[in-house]
Amino acid sequence: MGYTIGVDIGTSGTKSLLIDPDGNILAESSAAYPVHMPKPLWTEQDPEDWWNATVKTIRAVVKKAKVRPAEVQAIGLSGQMHGSVFLDKSGKVLRPALLWNDQRTAAECEEITQRAGGRSELIRMVANPALTGFTAPKILWLRNKEPKRFERLHKVLLPKDEIRRRLTGELATDASDASGMLLLDVRNRRWSAELLEKLELDPNLLAPVYESEEITGSLRPEVAAKLGLTPQCQVVAGAGDCAAGAVGNGIVRRGVLMASLGTSGVMFVHSDEPQIDEQGRLHTFCHAVHGKWHMMGVTLSAAGSMQWFVDRLCPELSSRRGTDPYQTLNSEAGEVPPGAAGLFFLPYLAGERTPHADAHARACFVGLTGAHGRGHMARAVMEGVAMSLRESLEIIRSLDVPVREMRLSGGGAKSALWRQIMADVMNQAACTINAEQGPAFGVALLAAVGAGRFKNIEEACRATIEVVRKMPPKRAAARSYDKMFPIYQSLYGQLKPAFDAIAQL
Ligand code: XUL
Repeated sequence: MGYTIGVDIGTSGTKSLLIDPDGNILAESSAAYPVHMPKPLWTEQDPEDWWNATVKTIRAVVKKAKVRPAEVQAIGLSGQMHGSVFLDKSGKVLRPALLWNDQRTAAECEEITQRAGGRSELIRMVANPALTGFTAPKILWLRNKEPKRFERLHKVLLPKDEIRRRLTGELATDASDASGMLLLDVRNRRWSAELLEKLELDPNLLAPVYESEEITGSLRPEVAAKLGLTPQCQVVAGAGDCAAGAVGNGIVRRGVLMASLGTSGVMFVHSDEPQIDEQGRLHTFCHAVHGKWHMMGVTLSAAGSMQWFVDRLCPELSSRRGTDPYQTLNSEAGEVPPGAAGLFFLPYLAGERTPHADAHARACFVGLTGAHGRGHMARAVMEGVAMSLRESLEIIRSLDVPVREMRLSGGGAKSALWRQIMADVMNQAACTINAEQGPAFGVALLAAVGAGRFKNIEEACRATIEVVRKMPPKRAAARSYDKMFPIYQSLYGQLKPAFDAIAQL
């Protein structure tokens, strides 16, 4: 008895895993789907793709783990944050969902800031400034640009909550994911009636907010049959993928930082109080730990930058049979000394969030000479992402948040070279833990708490998560990066006028 499933509805695909009562992963499965880019810097997905991937991967893990249906007590849901699923009264999806890295809503961010009475008023109400990726600007975009659809709008759900609706028939969200809608009074963990009124948005558009381990319903009988489970299987509220990933890495107390190298890169710290960056550079959101908060900085293209490099610049590496393109690039980049011989990469392929919050920012290599080759460029990409994350770390430190340990996670952390670069750029040992599955594992643990297996998520993490590898920084490399960092930091400011001009072309 007491098995649970964690599902993470990610940007490149959905991953499900099944754990036993001690937190051992018995089976995993994933299924990929595309991101649609109907215009430059627009990103969309079809919720139907998420649903098909969820059904496929849950069925697969139940089958692979060879557990009896009744033994799976609960499911936890995690997913990409901020995405907007627009539903009409009959529950029909009105248009493809706008994603977290979509940059079409600059005008709506302005509108929200103005209606709120300015940036600091907005931060007072919802703890964060308006950023293009967040959900509220997407709702206003629908009202401004697709008014016919807006007229039919009945509910707005986040990606994992749309999957919950299909699994259980219930409308619900959790406080961590809700924080990223820019409509939550983050301090008090409830919708901000004040901001909703100023934006003239009906509070009924939103789902009730739960704490992450709370039960929000159980499987509809026909869905349970499809998944190979029973209608008694419960679904807990779960969490946005950042908070869920943090739980999966044991970031449930002060002093430990998660550095995640997923499609986006995240620097995440736990906080016992709702500590707010008055300048709005870091996000302050509710944590998936009951009644706690977290702060985080997000660079929009982290492992996503490497994926771009492989897919767009070296497609021939992917078509070579029997070789892994990432391994090839890692060994070429490993031949190059730290600093890539003066080559810098700014990872703004999708604009940027922390610390610049600029939809116009563009990625670039700076400092190329005829002596640079592919290995230098691959190394510069990894270093540029690390420097961008160091900008978040510096802000975290400047707010007196202690960082005694750094835990790496996400696809990029599979690369030993990238782990070393992270340790050297941050001048802090890079630790990795026994469980590599981040968000899906985190929500499987939250489901175990909901099912009564653990008293709370802190106890669940203590029982199941340990650091298994620690890579200390190398002195000489850390010194080179210290010299490069101020140059890296100065590049954005110098290029900003050009970014703005390019955006007007
Ligand atoms: C967090 C964010 C991204 C997505 C990616 O604010 O936008 O990390 O959640 O999955």
